[in-house]
Amino acid sequence: MTGVGAYLPEKILTNDELSQFVDTDDNWIRQRTGIVSRRKASSDELTSDLAVKAANQALRSAGVTITDIDCIILATTTPDYTFPSTATIVQQKLGAENAFAFDVQAVCAGFVYALTVANGLMCSGQGKTALVIGAETFTKLLDWKDRSTCVLFGDGAGAVVLQTDNSNKGFGILANKLYSDGRYRDILYVDGGVSTTGTVGHVKMKGRDVFKHAVEKLADAMDEVLKLAKLTSSDIDWLVPHQANIRIINAMQKKLNLPDEKVIKTVSAHANTSAASIPLALNYGVTSGKIKSGHLLALEAIGGGLSWGASLVRYGRPD
Ligand code: UT7
Repeated sequence: MTGVGAYLPEKILTNDELSQFVDTDDNWIRQRTGIVSRRKASSDELTSDLAVKAANQALRSAGVTITDIDCIILATTTPDYTFPSTATIVQQKLGAENAFAFDVQAVCAGFVYALTVANGLMCSGQGKTALVIGAETFTKLLDWKDRSTCVLFGDGAGAVVLQTDNSNKGFGILANKLYSDGRYRDILYVDGGVSTTGTVGHVKMKGRDVFKHAVEKLADAMDEVLKLAKLTSSDIDWLVPHQANIRIINAMQKKLNLPDEKVIKTVSAHANTSAASIPLALNYGVTSGKIKSGHLLALEAIGGGLSWGASLVRYGRPD
């Protein structure tokens, strides 16, 4: 993972602003979620626009050009259109003429899924340089009258560049594990779709139920990837978790016995940006100088499906 980039829409929506049109307050949102504000895309700002800005930054960060890119995988739940894939729109906007491109839909777990798919493709010889993007305009899926969901989400995009590494120095993606359980699909879903209502729909969530599954399933997934990589939690330099709720992040931190100095927390300013949340947090970690080349990163996310997973990544490149 040799480069990272991100983009956030300009508009900052604070808890106080939200409380002017929905029955909530800053105190409740901060205490229950850790969220202080979120970004909101304008009506003419598309998921692909956010993705392109994040991708360009990731390309610069990795020192590669767009023609080097063999593969673009975009994790999103808020595509520009039903089809074609938003990834192909991003491909066209970037001029990625040597790439194949497709979307991955695993809601909040999308980035971990996309990373795992990219790793599999690269390991099977389908390309040497990949762009993996998580991008969402999730606020466009919200019912602004439903206080149990509309305060939780935000918009943004993050991207990473993956390059094959023949140095055998242990860089890159060390282990991945994906899971899903469709029996729980009704605790977090959207009540519309192409073949059901013919509409886009709005997010519905039984928050308490999702919360209960989150910590237990993410902890098991993390145990599993550590086992696969023959590492322990004391080897982790940075936990870069999905940013849905500070209480879930803190519970994972406790389970892994990590100090504050080893956990990236961006939920206060980003809220839950679904598939964009991990790469946005990664970008913050790298650009703030916390994450350095050679660091071991532990990534984990859970969301609608339920779908969840974890990855272990040695960031950067050998000297
Ligand atoms: O990324 C996908 C994964 N998603 C998640 O990980 C989300 C997981 N769940 C959560 O983060 C939390 O469950 C929530 C933040 C969604 C909710 O927190 P909670 O502590 O589980 O609260 P609750 O749903 O049990 O609701 C407690 C109370 C209720 O009132 P009563 O029934 O106790 O009188 C709600 O009506 O809080 C009320 N409430 C609100 N009050 C003010 C719910 N939403 C709000 C709100 N403002 N926005």
